[in-house]
Amino acid sequence: MGKLAPSILSADILQLRAQVQAVEKNGADLIHIDVMDGSFVPNISFGPMMVRALKKITKLPLDVHLMIQNPQKYLSVFAEAGAEIITVHQEACTHLDRVIAQIKTYGCMAGISLNPATPLSTIMPVLSETDLLLIMSVNPGFGGQQFIPYTLEKIREAADFKHRNKAKYLIEVDGGISVKTAPKAVKAGAEVLVAGNAIFSQESPADACKSLKRVIEQAGGRAV
Ligand code: DX5
Ligand code: ZN
Repeated sequence: MGKLAPSILSADILQLRAQVQAVEKNGADLIHIDVMDGSFVPNISFGPMMVRALKKITKLPLDVHLMIQNPQKYLSVFAEAGAEIITVHQEACTHLDRVIAQIKTYGCMAGISLNPATPLSTIMPVLSETDLLLIMSVNPGFGGQQFIPYTLEKIREAADFKHRNKAKYLIEVDGGISVKTAPKAVKAGAEVLVAGNAIFSQESPADACKSLKRVIEQAGGRAV
């Protein structure tokens, strides 16, 4: 069954407690936190303080997406702040195998993310060590962008590779997810759907979350 990870990037920061609790009651499975450094991506967002604050107000696992250079310098800080999942970008890591191993030493799930233009083949050697594969379906940096259709092929490829190799990683998709695009991503093989704009930019984030979760459930999943 597909899981839903609302991204607080599009939330109203001054209403964050109410908004996170509203999605928690309406089908959210994880809370997705986008960390941006203004260098790896052309935007600046949250740091470990945000993770620590959210930890106090929700029971949902915190899914931390690091869009930063040199992520290895900050892994322990995010783990201590309360991250359950820490995802780094392939494009930001020279020693990806070492970074994945380091995340696991903190007891967190280790995720790798790929930008739209980065092929799956660049990380195949480490997929057996990976707990989560985050496929970007927009260029990272901003909420509210359009889903890039060619990324569906990478989702299919990741699902095929997983099945063939009896691998364990969860396939997560991030960017431009809505009631229209979510079923396509699920049918291609996505297991966790991140959504910011489609939930928090709507009049009622609670209702939007509930509807999106229903659509994800109805899409079923990929027949392998
Ligand atoms: C984009 C972030 C996303 C973003 C998704 O760089 O990684 O998590 O919040 O936002 P939407 O769902 O609005 O495309
Ligand atoms: Zn993200």
